[in-house]
Amino acid sequence: MSLQDDRKEYLNGELGDEFLSADPKEMFVAWLDSYRALVKVDSTAFALSTVGKDGAPDCRIVLLKEIRDDGFVFYTNYNSKKGNDISGNPLVHALFFWPEMERQIRIKGHVSKISRVESEQYFSSRPILSQLGALSSDQSEKISSRSDLELKFDSFKSSDMSDYNCPDNWGGYCLSFKEIEFWQGRRSRMHDRIVFEIESNSKWSSFRVQP
Ligand SMILES: Cc1cc2nc3c(=O)[nH]c(=O)nc-3n(C[C@H](O)[C@H](O)[C@H](O)COP(=O)(O)O)c2cc1C
Repeated sequence: MSLQDDRKEYLNGELGDEFLSADPKEMFVAWLDSYRALVKVDSTAFALSTVGKDGAPDCRIVLLKEIRDDGFVFYTNYNSKKGNDISGNPLVHALFFWPEMERQIRIKGHVSKISRVESEQYFSSRPILSQLGALSSDQSEKISSRSDLELKFDSFKSSDMSDYNCPDNWGGYCLSFKEIEFWQGRRSRMHDRIVFEIESNSKWSSFRVQP
C-alpha cells in the first residue's frame, strides 16, 4: 500500500486562547500526567538532539527521569556520542511525541550536569542489572562482537551482586529551557500551536503560530 494513502484526521483536542496565559511548566506536567495515565510504557521517552563538533546534528531517545524547578533530568554516559556533543555545545533540542493524544512538545534548551551526589543517588536506585549494564558499556564505542560485550558484563559481576558504585562517566544532565512549543492536532490540518518564550524579567510570554 502506498504511504501516501496513510491519512488521519486529528480530532482529540484543542488549545484555546486560555492556554496563552498558562504557565508552560505546569502545562507540560498536566500533559505528561494525562499521557502517563493513558500510556504505561516509555511514556517519558523523548528525542534529544545535539550538535556535534563537526556541526552535524544527531538525535536519539532518552528517558525523562525528573522534573525540577530548573528543568528536566535525564541520565546517560557522559563519554557517549551525546555526552561528547554536549561538552562542545550544551544547546539541545528535545521532542516529545504523543500520538495517542495527537500532541507534540518541542523544547529548545541547554543542558548541564547535575551534581555527583544526585547522580549517585539515582544510580543506586536503579535495578542491579541496569547498574551492571551501565558499568559494562562504553556507550557509543565500537565493540567487535555481542559476545565480547557479554563477557564484559560478566566480568563486572561481583559474587554478592550488591550495589555497584556509579561510574565517574555516568550521570544526569538537567535540560533548562527558554522556549517550548505545544502542538495539538486539529481537523483539516488546522492544528493549534502555542509557543512560550522566557523574557529577560524571567516571565513567560506566549503566542500562537500557524500550523
Ligand atoms: C525507549 C528508549 C529509551 C532510552 N533511554 C535512554 C536513556 O535514558 N539514556 C541513554 O543514555 N540512552 C537511552 N536510550 C538509548 C539511546 O537512544 C541511544 O541509543 C544511546 O544513548 C546512545 O546514543 P549516542 O551514541 O547518541 O550517545 C534509550 C533508547 C530507547 C529506544
